[in-house]
Amino acid sequence: MINIAVLGYGTVGSGVVEVINTNHESINKRAGDEINIKYVLDLRDFPGDPVEKILVHDYEVIVNDPEVDIVVEVMGGIEPAYTFVKRALQAGKSVSTSNKALVAKHGSELMEIAKEKNINFLFEASCGGGIPIIRALNSSLTADEIDEITGILNGTTNYMLYKMSTENCDFDTVLKEAQAKGYAEADPTADVGGADACRKIAILSSLAYGKFLNYEDIYTEGITKITPADMEYAKELGMTIKLLATSRRIGDSFYAMVAPFLVGQSSPLYSVNDVFNAVFVHGNVLGDAMFYGSGAGKLPTASAVVADVVDEAKHLHRNIMTNWSSYALKLMDMDEVEG
Ligand code: HSE
Repeated sequence: MINIAVLGYGTVGSGVVEVINTNHESINKRAGDEINIKYVLDLRDFPGDPVEKILVHDYEVIVNDPEVDIVVEVMGGIEPAYTFVKRALQAGKSVSTSNKALVAKHGSELMEIAKEKNINFLFEASCGGGIPIIRALNSSLTADEIDEITGILNGTTNYMLYKMSTENCDFDTVLKEAQAKGYAEADPTADVGGADACRKIAILSSLAYGKFLNYEDIYTEGITKITPADMEYAKELGMTIKLLATSRRIGDSFYAMVAPFLVGQSSPLYSVNDVFNAVFVHGNVLGDAMFYGSGAGKLPTASAVVADVVDEAKHLHRNIMTNWSSYALKLMDMDEVEG
């Protein structure tokens, strides 16, 4: 039996429990063992929810329990997530996280600890919700020199812009809808201000280029200034407005930015609507590829988190991040890219 502990019983945490319960047979088969949720950590109580029986309020219970093999961190934010994840890895427990803020800031250090301990720190759910883009960049596309990544990497803002353009809704109304649907961050400022997409393009670009793109150096503009009039002008031009995150490599130079763009109908990104995300990648031998799917929300994100859990269960005492750890080493070298 593989015991896991889920840190945080919010939107994604409850999704992780639901995915494991719903697909337990196939998940156990693929993991090669039974995945057992031994603990759920949250400060709140959930009376009447079956999770009550395994709910703990104190992280010490989890980190000091030698039977816990894998920790799932879906709390979001830097602290206490960073401390909890670091301690879990140091205690020899693999970690799966959806936390892009954590990965963008501390990913290299956490990957190094996982490598030293011969365990895993996986973060497929940190970019693009349910879209398998991290694995693609780290295995399927490793024969390529990637020179461009451009994507719609935030589901909340894509949903908002879509609704504003198709239903003429105002900003505050559609933001509330996106929050109610479980797309937005606890503090939606990171969504509408572009910081969430910025962290995601920093992670993807660092992986793809083997160079550290510091998210703090990336020019970032969100959608807060987009008005119904802008939407109308875009429509008159036969275009739409999308929040794009983009990075390019030109020779030894790199640049990245996040901003609202006018997108024409000939672009494949034009029809990426609702909460969907899409990541366009160009490689020198691959040419073009686009990854598309549910970019936010409880179950798509939980699907990616649980996929990492299955991989970790299959490789419990073997670090499988060959490329990821070389990425980590490059990060440690801090061959930093200018904004
Ligand atoms: N708030 C994020 C989004 C969640 O809307 O894309 C998924 O990372």
